[in-house]
Amino acid sequence: MTARIIGTGSYAPERIVTNKDLMKFLDTDDEWIRERTGICERRVSAGEGTSDLAIHAAERAITDAGIDPKEIEILIVGTCTPDNGFPSAATDVQRAVGAVNAVAFDVTAACSGFIYGLHIVQSFIRCGIYKTALVIGAETISKVLDWTDRGTCILFGDGAGAAVLRADETGVIRTLAGSDGRKGHVLGCQARTMDNFLTGRKPEPGFMTMDGQEVFKFAVKKVPEIVSQILEESGIGREQVDHYVLHQANIRILESASRRLKVPMEKIPVNIDRYGNTSAASVPILLDEMNREGRLKRGDTLVMAGFGAGLTWGAALLKW
Ligand code: UT7
Repeated sequence: MTARIIGTGSYAPERIVTNKDLMKFLDTDDEWIRERTGICERRVSAGEGTSDLAIHAAERAITDAGIDPKEIEILIVGTCTPDNGFPSAATDVQRAVGAVNAVAFDVTAACSGFIYGLHIVQSFIRCGIYKTALVIGAETISKVLDWTDRGTCILFGDGAGAAVLRADETGVIRTLAGSDGRKGHVLGCQARTMDNFLTGRKPEPGFMTMDGQEVFKFAVKKVPEIVSQILEESGIGREQVDHYVLHQANIRILESASRRLKVPMEKIPVNIDRYGNTSAASVPILLDEMNREGRLKRGDTLVMAGFGAGLTWGAALLKW
């Protein structure tokens, strides 16, 4: 018995912010951003929180799956930008969609959050503990960006993607996940300022900081490594995979993966041009777009892979 994806959904805020919009207040230019990242525009939330985006994506995935929300037994939201320290975004989604029988919790693994969620539910379903799961990746990264820092703010966008999984004979073949806390300093965001008791100040929210080149070097090595690992461990050749659904962080990272894996770009779908890097939401948004456009055929072989702050990484190999 394994987990099979039986429905997908996604949602992004309406407001589109183009590179030219950023040029109005930032020392940057459209050509630089397109060439160095592949991003043309991103969505930025106006008033909607991470839980709002997650709820919309979840409702669409539940409708697509055609299930009763009461059937969901485990509900995970991968997010590093929850609206609250507590309660979790997952319990917000649980309440909104009526998944009253689920255990609901968030997973913090930055851009790898959705894949970590798949890794967890796959284990529960394979063991026979749960039969139906909802996994979501949702972020409002825009609220933790320093909009004066051109090295980070041009890259990210807001959005959410979701998948309903159910116990079945075929589906997820294998998942893997890993982390390396020694590299935590290269990409981070302090939650709240410290020492407020001593200083008498109110806690202030932190902003994202990133050593872009370090993350880039890590990503171009790690993505091909984990894709190769999961395929080798499963005895499946690269050419047998129909779609490589990879975290959308930078078009150059995707092109590098294509070269290193010797996989044509036609098998590596791209939507970073329209959304930027939506962190944990990037893989499920892309998956949902492919599903709705009819690009996924029953029996297709998919590899998903993500990486992010922590540092963290994860991959999933599955049959559609
Ligand atoms: O989910 C994981 C999240 N993070 C990532 O995936 C980040 C991975 N890293 C990257 O995508 C790239 O490192 C960046 C896109 C962040 C930066 O690209 P880069 O090719 O590594 O550029 P750089 O930092 O080496 O900067 C090159 C030049 C510098 O100018 P000088 O010193 O050569 O004069 C920067 O000041 O480009 C300048 N620059 C910019 N210019 C216009 C940096 N950011 C910008 C900008 N607009 N937004």
